[in-house]
Amino acid sequence: MATPPEPLDEAKVKAFTERMISHINGASVSLMIEIGRRVGLFDTMAAVPAATSAVVAEQAGLTERYVREWLGAMVCGGVVEFEAATGTYRLPPEHAALLTGQTTRNLTTTTALFPLLTRVLPDVVEAFRQGGGVPYSAFQPEFTGLMDVRSRPRYDENLFGKYLAAPDDLIKRLEQGIRVADIGCGSGYCIGLMAERFPRSTFVGYDLSEPAIAQARSQASALGLQNAHFEIEDVRVFPVEPPFDLITAFDAIHDQVDPAAVLSRVRQALSPGGMFLMLDVHASSNLEDNLSLPHSPLLYTVSTMHCMTVSLAHGGVGLGTAWGSQVADRMLRAAGFSSIRLFERVDPLNSLYVAT
Ligand SMILES: C[S@@+](CC[C@H](N)C(=O)[O-])C[C@H]1O[C@@H](n2cnc3c(N)ncnc32)[C@H](O)[C@@H]1O
Repeated sequence: MATPPEPLDEAKVKAFTERMISHINGASVSLMIEIGRRVGLFDTMAAVPAATSAVVAEQAGLTERYVREWLGAMVCGGVVEFEAATGTYRLPPEHAALLTGQTTRNLTTTTALFPLLTRVLPDVVEAFRQGGGVPYSAFQPEFTGLMDVRSRPRYDENLFGKYLAAPDDLIKRLEQGIRVADIGCGSGYCIGLMAERFPRSTFVGYDLSEPAIAQARSQASALGLQNAHFEIEDVRVFPVEPPFDLITAFDAIHDQVDPAAVLSRVRQALSPGGMFLMLDVHASSNLEDNLSLPHSPLLYTVSTMHCMTVSLAHGGVGLGTAWGSQVADRMLRAAGFSSIRLFERVDPLNSLYVAT
């Protein structure tokens, strides 16, 4: 005889219903935020005082009916304030700070990822069934630009004051002149900043992505940089001679097909006394430790939809975004590094590993 189903704990059902509604509302608001970002509504609203939907639409050059419905979602989502008596809408400056501008506070660079992740969703679903994954190429042409927009403010705010300042004397050595490689350099913005600031050092950026390297080269030539160049190269096999004094990897190890091979290549390519600077997502290798991270669902989502799947697409290990500091430390040691210093959360999302 089948055992009767356990009676539901109605309080638990209620609590989870509330949580589900909050997830659904969050997804809905994110979608509307992405529309607002694309059509410039946040910039428009940040520049005007409280205004009716007709004024907002006119200032933004958009259709009033759509703007009014969008404003409805923004008001209900707590993004925009509404005064019923005057029929006016206001984007408070404290909210505008998180929705506009080229700073790391602007969280629309994250919500901008969702349409791209949704585009590859059918392929990810197929990978759940068949194994394998979705290759990097499937995320182009948008990926390079989105990554560039997300990364720039991070480098502007942290590169010199935090990332390069963490290891003793590194800035001094860069000023004196050393040979540097940035692996998985993307659009090369970070190399551009370093090459301008440290004219005695030489920089090479390696990335597999043709659009990224094309953008990096054109930026370097626009800036007239003589000490920076870029190569399309798989960083599993980048040249180890002549050796480098500093190798950097910014957000570029956890999604590798064969991260162990890359780390070992880095070790081989360093001069005696050379240094590897690896910035990667701040997380623990244990799921239970990550529950307290405010953005932990985002980490595992972006991992499933991008970072892990691009690795599995080529038979890789699929470390995932939340590979975490314990696994990172173990892998750095296995690659031959004997000293590893961890600077936790050098920015809100990342930790820095200094390996020698
Ligand atoms: C998440 S992005 C980070 C880009 C850049 N460092 C930044 O901070 O904006 C990772 C980059 O690594 C590159 N990449 C992944 N696997 C690679 C490999 N095996 N060889 C070279 N580049 C690789 C990708 O093309 C991508 O540009």
